[in-house]
Amino acid sequence: MSTARVNALMNQMTTAEKIGQLLQMTGDAFQSGESKITGPMQDKHLSTETVYAVGSVLGTSGAKQVKEIQKDYLAHNRLHIPLMFMADVIHGYQTIYPIPLGLGATFNPEMVRQTSEVAARISAAGGIQVTFAPMVDLVRDPRWGRVMESTGEDPYLNSVMTQASVEGFQGELPLDKEHIAACVKHFAAYGAPEAGREYNTVDLSEWRFREQYLPAYAAAIEAQAMLVMTSFNTLFGVPASANQHLMRDILRDELNFHGVLISDWNAVGELIRHGVAANSEAATALALKAGVDIDMMSFAYASYLKKAADLDDQTLALINEAAVRVLELKEKLGLFDDPFRGMDEEKELHDIHSDETMAVVQQAAEESLVLLKNDQQVLPLHHTQSIALIGPVIASNDLLGAWSWNGHRHETETLEHAFKADFNDVKVATGCDYRHADAAAEAEALAIAEQQDVIVAVLGLPSSESGEASSLANIKLPQAQLELLAKLAKLNKPIISVIITGRAMDLTRVNELSTAIVVAWFPGTKGAIAIKNVLDGTVSPNGKLPMTFPRSVGQVPIYYNQYRTGRPVPDPYVDSGNGYESKYMDCSTLPLYPFGFGLSYADITIEKVEVIHNVVTETQPLTVNVTIKNNSDFAAKNVLQGYTHQLIGETVRPMKELKYFAKITFPAHSEQTITVTIAKEQLSSVHTNLKRATDAGHYEVMIGFDSEKLIKCDFEVQ
Ligand code: NOJ
Repeated sequence: MSTARVNALMNQMTTAEKIGQLLQMTGDAFQSGESKITGPMQDKHLSTETVYAVGSVLGTSGAKQVKEIQKDYLAHNRLHIPLMFMADVIHGYQTIYPIPLGLGATFNPEMVRQTSEVAARISAAGGIQVTFAPMVDLVRDPRWGRVMESTGEDPYLNSVMTQASVEGFQGELPLDKEHIAACVKHFAAYGAPEAGREYNTVDLSEWRFREQYLPAYAAAIEAQAMLVMTSFNTLFGVPASANQHLMRDILRDELNFHGVLISDWNAVGELIRHGVAANSEAATALALKAGVDIDMMSFAYASYLKKAADLDDQTLALINEAAVRVLELKEKLGLFDDPFRGMDEEKELHDIHSDETMAVVQQAAEESLVLLKNDQQVLPLHHTQSIALIGPVIASNDLLGAWSWNGHRHETETLEHAFKADFNDVKVATGCDYRHADAAAEAEALAIAEQQDVIVAVLGLPSSESGEASSLANIKLPQAQLELLAKLAKLNKPIISVIITGRAMDLTRVNELSTAIVVAWFPGTKGAIAIKNVLDGTVSPNGKLPMTFPRSVGQVPIYYNQYRTGRPVPDPYVDSGNGYESKYMDCSTLPLYPFGFGLSYADITIEKVEVIHNVVTETQPLTVNVTIKNNSDFAAKNVLQGYTHQLIGETVRPMKELKYFAKITFPAHSEQTITVTIAKEQLSSVHTNLKRATDAGHYEVMIGFDSEKLIKCDFEVQ
């Protein structure tokens, strides 16, 4: 509902000024210097008058710079309506957390809330008022480069993490000056491009979209995210930025979203290339009708400036609707009272490096690491062992990942430094480049490996190979690294492979050649110390895979919550010898490592699973008591997971669906009973009428520490 101040402004504004509020551009029109954005730059030929009517800026940050731009702008804007500053604070501002896929691997929503909160505080001091985060797109295809920006393949995990992230960024509403507005993206289903190819068509049935893709966006809106960004892709045959069904019927009417809808970079202009609009004016008409309030960087909306005087009433009403929403957001941000809201150079600098920030960054990195294999309990390492630290990452120190332009690479601790601080004898060599063999580097690596007790091979991909516009057709490690690993394996020493990656990968060959494997994602500013801490047992690993790791790219898309088929394999672990089953002739149906998987150094076992309430009603949730023992000397965290399966449904049901998870601390030699509850509402599914409802009938609940090894019990829903 618009306030008196917004109404008063609207009454004074010309149509051109209202259209101005709907335009967003990079800060370089106001300043020299680098902007932090992605997307093709185009020469927009904007007049000075238009520039000073533009409502918001993206990609510019730093208290000093933002203050200068705001000051200059206010001196030129007729009604002194402040600019709004938006930026991509994706996994930290200067001090960098693990990539969101790594944060997903923590299975720790409290941690995500904290990382978002700290990032909000620092970026607010740095002049940012809106972050283009969280990205909540569900991802099942690791060929797509942007899987790194998501918390993974599961609707429930995504929803919980999304809610935590929005709440962390925004804090308790109304917004205070230490928090910033969250813009959930990319609406909708951007994470499902065909063949994992960036910007490609998405084609999902509306049933499937609602079952699996919609819940995380809905959770963000439920958590009161103030903005939504449209996606680049087509869905249900229409590009998102022109898709009235998606934006009006689903987003606005059904999900009750009243905030600002912003297009992605140039997405309104791209309606022309999609072939649904003939020119900028037609693209503007489509986007306005779909309810897109802000046009990010296409300047299609600017085409209406020329004909502002001739616009019909319907179009004027759409422009008013959008301008009101933009002004309301400025009001909620407190910009009319204080256009320099929260900007503070000293605080910005202090908080980037503060102990609190560093502690959160390090804990997040430690909790994101996933131990996939640990043969002969080669891990944890002892400080008396001599280490050969090998791999291209050693030289590049590329641990921050994409979407961290502001990140201080030079302040990121190196692996060499982290290991040498605690181990007496560490020798380092790169062995090869990321994608190229190097005979001299290889010889050096083999020579040091021969001398040392243990090989720690830090392998993977550079940041430039994940993120936007970074799809890959091959998701194995590059050949040069696999060959190096094979040569190292011939030395018959324990090899611990640490994988730096922004995606799930085909690690089949790495698995054959390594004694232990740790997936470290891009762990961020404190990544090196986190890796060292997990390898030497300072911390017992407790991350879990938020995405299935396939055996082969041919299995993709592969995900744990598959639907039943009419011809399932009776037992995926045993070859039945029969044909006419849903399987491959040349590859198992099983992944290499399943969703939710991750080992611990502690020996934590489920002793008893007891269903306390096995009849679920509106008021009585499913209640299961799980008794768990830590039989070891290691105090450790682990993630208890609860999955359900509806036996008979109107539509086919997945074989398992995550409905519960909790990260729990298990002291050494301890026992505790955890109560798992799952409400009736959580068991709902989308029916053929496209509505959600929970069916009465028989269900199963499955409890464990990953999505494969599970203890099953029955229950009923009334
Ligand atoms: C394009 C990306 O798709 C989007 O996620 C990002 O927020 C904008 N560029 C702005 O940088």
